[in-house]
Amino acid sequence: MEEQLQKSLVQVARFYDNRKVGDAGFLGFRRSTDLSILFSCLGPLLDEKIIVPNESLFLDLGCADGRVNVFLSYLAKFSIGIELDEWTLDEYMQLRSELDKALKKDGLLTPPENIFLFHGDSMDEDVHGAVTSKTGISFEQFDLFYTYLIMHEEFAGLIVEKAKKGAIFLIYGLQKILPRYHGLRLLEHISPMEGILAFYRKE
Ligand SMILES: C[S@@+](CC[C@H](N)C(=O)[O-])C[C@H]1O[C@@H](n2cnc3c(N)ncnc32)[C@H](O)[C@@H]1O
Repeated sequence: MEEQLQKSLVQVARFYDNRKVGDAGFLGFRRSTDLSILFSCLGPLLDEKIIVPNESLFLDLGCADGRVNVFLSYLAKFSIGIELDEWTLDEYMQLRSELDKALKKDGLLTPPENIFLFHGDSMDEDVHGAVTSKTGISFEQFDLFYTYLIMHEEFAGLIVEKAKKGAIFLIYGLQKILPRYHGLRLLEHISPMEGILAFYRKE
């Protein structure tokens, strides 16, 4: 990976990891992905061609403040998120402007203009329609789906029903015991990566 890109990703991970939400207290449902762990996964993700730079279409099902979207925007062609709670999604802009300022100050790369975040239920066909209207991407075109454990069974069902063959479902927050889903094949040779991220491929 190019040095400037690598440095920028490290800075993005540091920025958001210093602003974690829900690790303790009543906002537990809002726990956020540790981006430094995701950074450690990038080498294998690229080697395995799970992410193909500037080609992969990424969708975070429950994106909260969009931090995973921002992180993966540097590698994906489009980085799209759907979030149920409007007030959570609203935090995106404030964090982004702080992040962009910090990146610019250090002469690093700001995220590309390929991030689109939507308010709504990730299961809702109308929200999928809104994604298509705005970005031209239909649910069937996404290469990579992501969740931090939230509704993983329902999302697995949705992916089995609607995603293209070969699409990958990444589930963050798992440990040694990995769930199985009918219609999705667990990629056992790389799961759980860093002890926390599992990969499933739609058959
Ligand atoms: C644990 S947080 C993870 C946020 C982010 N993906 C990350 O990894 O840092 C899960 C988010 O999913 C949202 N959520 C739960 N059910 C959802 C649904 N059906 N559609 C969209 N968002 C949902 C919650 O409001 C919460 O903000």
